[in-house]
Amino acid sequence: MKILIINGPNLNLLGLREPEIYGNQNYASLCALIDDTCKELGVDHEIFQSNHEGAIVDKIQDAYGKFDGIVINPAAYTHTSVAILDALKAVSIPTVEVHISDINSRDEFRKHSYISLTAIKTVMGLGFEGYKVAIEHLYDFLK
Ligand code: DQA
Repeated sequence: MKILIINGPNLNLLGLREPEIYGNQNYASLCALIDDTCKELGVDHEIFQSNHEGAIVDKIQDAYGKFDGIVINPAAYTHTSVAILDALKAVSIPTVEVHISDINSRDEFRKHSYISLTAIKTVMGLGFEGYKVAIEHLYDFLK
């Protein structure tokens, strides 16, 4: 089993970025948690982060035939990107959506997620731990 973890814009600035919302731990700590979770499950994985919508679309297209599942935190593109939604639908790779914060209890514009229209599950509001929950859910779904 091989899974792709995609992180969208500004997640590379974790630790610096709005710590009252996203916490004090940096992006490397998040990647370490993802690495540990995948290692425990015996799952091959790759982590990809980009601040660019087109690069994320390219990565999803390129995942076709290479990855069995995707965990994605599209960050701000969650609320705007039909292109990322369409790419996920095009490749039909089972996808779990994850958000560090609870997007339903913040600004009104964060309540709508295009990605939820195709995700098999959405995990939110659990901090970094949400990635563990998302990966475990995807693993159970795929195995
Ligand atoms: C986020 C929530 C989004 O609304 C925001 O734009 C992000 C991060 C989260 O993980 O909580 O960049 O996806």
